[in-house]
Amino acid sequence: MIRTPAALLPYLLAVAAVVAGVLWHAGDHVAGIGRNIESGSASVGSPFSLIDQSGSVRTDKDFRGRFMLVYFGYSYCPDVCPTTLAVMANALDKLGTKRARIAPIFISVDPERDRPKVLKDYLNSFAPDFVGLTGSAKAVSEAARAYRVYFKKHNLPNGGYAVDHSSIIYLMGPDGHFVTYYEETIGPDALAADLSKRL
Ligand code: NI
Repeated sequence: MIRTPAALLPYLLAVAAVVAGVLWHAGDHVAGIGRNIESGSASVGSPFSLIDQSGSVRTDKDFRGRFMLVYFGYSYCPDVCPTTLAVMANALDKLGTKRARIAPIFISVDPERDRPKVLKDYLNSFAPDFVGLTGSAKAVSEAARAYRVYFKKHNLPNGGYAVDHSSIIYLMGPDGHFVTYYEETIGPDALAADLSKRL
C-alpha cells in the first residue's frame, strides 16, 4: 500500500506537537530560539507602533539617531525578565556619557495585564528612562513577529496565567536596522563592553 501524504499527516502533526512541547516545556523562557536570526538579520525588527508607559503612541521612527536595546517580556514574569532588565540597566550605567546614545525598550508580550500604568510602575524600579511599550494584542503580535519573538499564554493551576516567551536582547542601530543580539544570560560587564565597542 502506498502511503499518501494524507495518511502521513497525523504522524507529522504528532511529531510537530512533540517538538513544540519540548520547546515550550523547557521553561518559562524559550531557550535557543533566535540562534538563526543572524542569517536573517536584514528583516529583524521591522516597524512597530505601540503605546508607551505614559500613554503616548511610539513608533520605531521615534528612536532614529539612537541605538535601541530591545527586550520583550512581561511585568508578571517571575524570574528571567526582571533579571534581564536588571542586567540591561546595570550595563547601561557602566557606559557613562555614551548611555544617552541608547534607548532601552521593553515591549510587553502580555498587553492584557501590562497596561501603561502597570509598565510605568514596573520599569521605575529598574531605570526610569526605560521605554515600556504595550498596545493592542494585534499590535504587540506584529511587533513580536517582526523581532522573531515567540510567546504563548499558558494557564496556571491557581487560575492565573503565565506567558512563555523567547528571551533575547536586540541591539538595533541608529538607522533602525538590526546590529546584533545578546542572550539573556550575558552579564552586565560583557554587555557594557560590547555596547561600548559599538557606540
Ligand atoms: Ni519573562
